[in-house]
Amino acid sequence: MSEAAGNHIYGAAVIGCGGMGIQHVRAVAQHPRTHLVAVVDREEEVRQRCQQEHDAQEAYAEYTDILNRDDIELVVVATWPSSHREIVEALLRAGKHVLCEKPLAPNLEEARSMIDTVHQTGRKLRIGYILHYNQAYNKVTEMIRDGALGEPPYIMRLLGGEHPITELQWSRELKLIQETSAGIDCGCHYVDIMRRVTGADAVWVSGIGARTEPETPPDNFDYELFSVKFTDGSAGIYEVGWTHHYRSFNEKEFVGPKGRIRLSYAGGRRDGYSEEGDQIEYYQYPGSITIINVPTGLKRVDEELADLILTVEEDRDVRPHLDDAYKSLEIVLAGHQAAVEGRTIWLQ
Ligand SMILES: NC(=O)c1ccc[n+]([C@@H]2O[C@H](COP(=O)([O-])OP(=O)(O)OC[C@H]3O[C@@H](n4cnc5c(N)ncnc54)[C@H](O)[C@@H]3O)[C@@H](O)[C@H]2O)c1
Repeated sequence: MSEAAGNHIYGAAVIGCGGMGIQHVRAVAQHPRTHLVAVVDREEEVRQRCQQEHDAQEAYAEYTDILNRDDIELVVVATWPSSHREIVEALLRAGKHVLCEKPLAPNLEEARSMIDTVHQTGRKLRIGYILHYNQAYNKVTEMIRDGALGEPPYIMRLLGGEHPITELQWSRELKLIQETSAGIDCGCHYVDIMRRVTGADAVWVSGIGARTEPETPPDNFDYELFSVKFTDGSAGIYEVGWTHHYRSFNEKEFVGPKGRIRLSYAGGRRDGYSEEGDQIEYYQYPGSITIINVPTGLKRVDEELADLILTVEEDRDVRPHLDDAYKSLEIVLAGHQAAVEGRTIWLQ
């Protein structure tokens, strides 16, 4: 593989072609620097439809079928978190570079093992922190880091909920709740945002959870709220609900000594929607409000893929990125543990 050559076309595969995987398949099929060699999914109907619609050369049921294919250099893993460690480590050992969906793993032991394997193999691993490619969040982060709200501490209210409209949507959310819990699966994005905005680490986490759906397993929750205290004194709350009857909503707000920033929706997008806001409302004491429109794609998996390619070609150090992924996982796992055990978990 001529990794330094900027015009090399990488053979690529996607493992797991469900709700998130299909977006990666589309990105790989359309990216000028990748060629979709294979799609992998245990569900025959899913992999065959995906192969036909996106013109993949091969469709396999098992990830092991691609390990020895030298024409596959980059792999996207979009299976459930319980399978990430086994699949990602096998791929790295087989010499592939990997983009794996978040959360890194269902527990810290598996996450550490994956990171160790990156260092042992020298291959690149990036984790699907899609909000890193969301221009609205990037603008908010830049504004706050440049002092728009004054000096910390900040109050960060990152709240959201999903009202699944179809049974397919609910079955996908249920599968993720069965794997980890709503707060872990989705929360890793938002505590990562809290860390990016403040540049601070979490000191302690507390949490509450509820199980309102009969299919939610006894140890997991379909509703969770975590509160996180940071080393700079900032306070963050993250709330999520994935149930048949929870309302879809999205409230993302940052408050500091000098003002407030809220992510809302640009004209034409309805409020109370569960996806990300694309309009910044910046309130400055004593009363001015500035509206900043930030056109942004919702899930720029194409940019995640482009970043993996640059990481490979420029031999970028993935340690800071993996450290961030690990730390955000640590916070949400602690929040969930706090909710289960009814106590505060100290992280330092
Ligand atoms: N970044 C985001 O915004 C975002 C959004 C949704 C989901 N996700 C993440 O993406 C991952 C997948 O979630 P989803 O919603 O797409 O799930 P999904 O249930 O829609 O799809 C998962 C697919 O993987 C396949 N699969 C599972 N294990 C497999 C294995 N060992 N080998 C081959 N195929 C296998 C299943 O058959 C299924 O088709 C999760 O880690 C989830 O947290 C990320």
